[in-house]
Amino acid sequence: MKRIIVLTVSLFVIFSVCAQNTGNKSMDKMWDNGTVSSANADSSKLKFFDEANYAMFIHWGLYSKLAGRWDGKTYYGISEWLMNPRRAGIPVDEYKEQARTFNPDKFNADSIVKLAKDAGMKYIIITAKHHDGFAMYNSKSNNFNVTATPFGRDPLKEMAEACKKEGLGFGFYYSHNQDWTFPGGNGGPETTPKGKKVGFDYYFKKKCLPQVNEITKNYGDIVLVWFDTPGDIEKKYAEQLVKVVRKNRPEALVSGRIGHGLGDYQTLGDMDIPLQNIPGYWETVDVTNDSWGYAWYDKNWKSPKRILENLISVVARGGTYMLNVGPKGDGSITEPVKIALTTSGKWIKKHPEVIYAAGASPWKHALPWGDVTVTPDGTMNVCVFQWPENGKLSLPGMLSGIKSAKVVYDDKFIDADIKIEEGSWITLKLPCQRPDNLVSVIKLEPDSIWVVDTTQAIDPYYTTDLSVVFAHTENCNKEEKRWMEKFGEWKHVWQVHDWTTDSKVTWTVDVKDKGYYHVDLNYSGEKRVVWQITTNEGDTLVNEQNACKVYKYYEMGLLKFKKGGKHKISVSLLSDDKNYSLKEIRIVPWNPKE
Ligand code: GLC
Repeated sequence: MKRIIVLTVSLFVIFSVCAQNTGNKSMDKMWDNGTVSSANADSSKLKFFDEANYAMFIHWGLYSKLAGRWDGKTYYGISEWLMNPRRAGIPVDEYKEQARTFNPDKFNADSIVKLAKDAGMKYIIITAKHHDGFAMYNSKSNNFNVTATPFGRDPLKEMAEACKKEGLGFGFYYSHNQDWTFPGGNGGPETTPKGKKVGFDYYFKKKCLPQVNEITKNYGDIVLVWFDTPGDIEKKYAEQLVKVVRKNRPEALVSGRIGHGLGDYQTLGDMDIPLQNIPGYWETVDVTNDSWGYAWYDKNWKSPKRILENLISVVARGGTYMLNVGPKGDGSITEPVKIALTTSGKWIKKHPEVIYAAGASPWKHALPWGDVTVTPDGTMNVCVFQWPENGKLSLPGMLSGIKSAKVVYDDKFIDADIKIEEGSWITLKLPCQRPDNLVSVIKLEPDSIWVVDTTQAIDPYYTTDLSVVFAHTENCNKEEKRWMEKFGEWKHVWQVHDWTTDSKVTWTVDVKDKGYYHVDLNYSGEKRVVWQITTNEGDTLVNEQNACKVYKYYEMGLLKFKKGGKHKISVSLLSDDKNYSLKEIRIVPWNPKE
């Protein structure tokens, strides 16, 4: 189970590459995803969050109608940023004009809520107001809102009611710091229409605070308010918003992106699936394609299997997965999203205990073939993403005993033979045919409690990718690096840089079977480079390979482990130019018989 965070998660040492500015700050610097204090958390409120583990995020607004295009030009990247000067730079008046023709006549709250329910999601968080300042609900305090359009209805009221009917939780996204159309909002006009110069206080009192008051008063029970991009907001403003939420909706949580550590739980960076378990209450937010808001060209839909793998990985790291859907400007949801969510949802209905109330993997990281969650009664859900065709699945570091191992089929369980191997490995003997096309599940019951050795394991059958996050570094620096592929499409990697002649990156690994393994390195750089890889037994690999600006695997050669058990593998750089960024080492079993 997730435990209350003590203070600050400083796991993410952050710097950004290719980041775009909004106001004075790059987007990722505005998230403020580092700190949440346990003092904020009321554990009874957090119980729901802790057990739900899977939610639907909805980005829907005027930008959905524009769908990433302005004046005939497409701006690739997250579409809700279209009006920003870093994108199309749409003048405020022209953007506001869009409200005159906003008429999402295909919007149907019941069908969206049904989709979330079929998907196995436990609550929905929808944009009440994004950075563009347009309110998607009936806002009495500001008429730049959806009821002042030809549509005329309050879609969020309909969503709140539909969620209540279906027994799903409901809550709002609210951009409290950025408002690009209201005078004084971060990124907004500096003067009122009458030409008076105003600051953030003006926006806060005239729009932000009244609107947060409205959304927390007029929509019944809500599970949380998801504030976003606090940037440099002053603490006194964030405090006032928290106060309003607490007063109007004592049951509601406040997201970590309120800023100043005032949230009830932490939100990681956009689209970040962490490699190591994170303690405390946290979530990660991800997209079904590449953009939060609907973009006409964006058809990069995740498959049902990918959605399940991401969801299971997040739960296995101890967190909650909130997955975004961006309805079109007419309110409808595209076919591939419906297919992907309902298909993955059917799987969740078969295996609810893998997701809901499930705790993190005792290994604290993924395993070469999949990942593991643990139900409150202690049963381990071994989730196999890639089923072994040879019918053998190896589990490393098993220091405690197993009572039973059952392979889950649609209509039955089949016992798997458990073979205790040398060291602390066990091997499960499985049917060669995978029981499930998406993710297969094996239930392990413990003798008493699970005790595992969390050392990274080298599997005799599967390829193992080892991030530098798991390595010990000497005379070089390990940091998280973020960049945007398209605008707003974030990628996160851990990498080692600042190499010198004395630098060394060392992984401790637990090798099941002695023998030869092929080794590849994943790095970026500019020109050919010579690497050296050594083992504690003295085997050495030296090879020159090419390099390019993106992270890519390069083949290095064979290494030999003379015996099974714990080993050390170290990487150093022999070239004069040390300007490289190392991401991972890959170990591939090299089997002369196959
Ligand atoms: C970023 C973006 C925003 C999006 C959010 C989702 O902060 O500014 O457009 O809503 O991420 O997490």
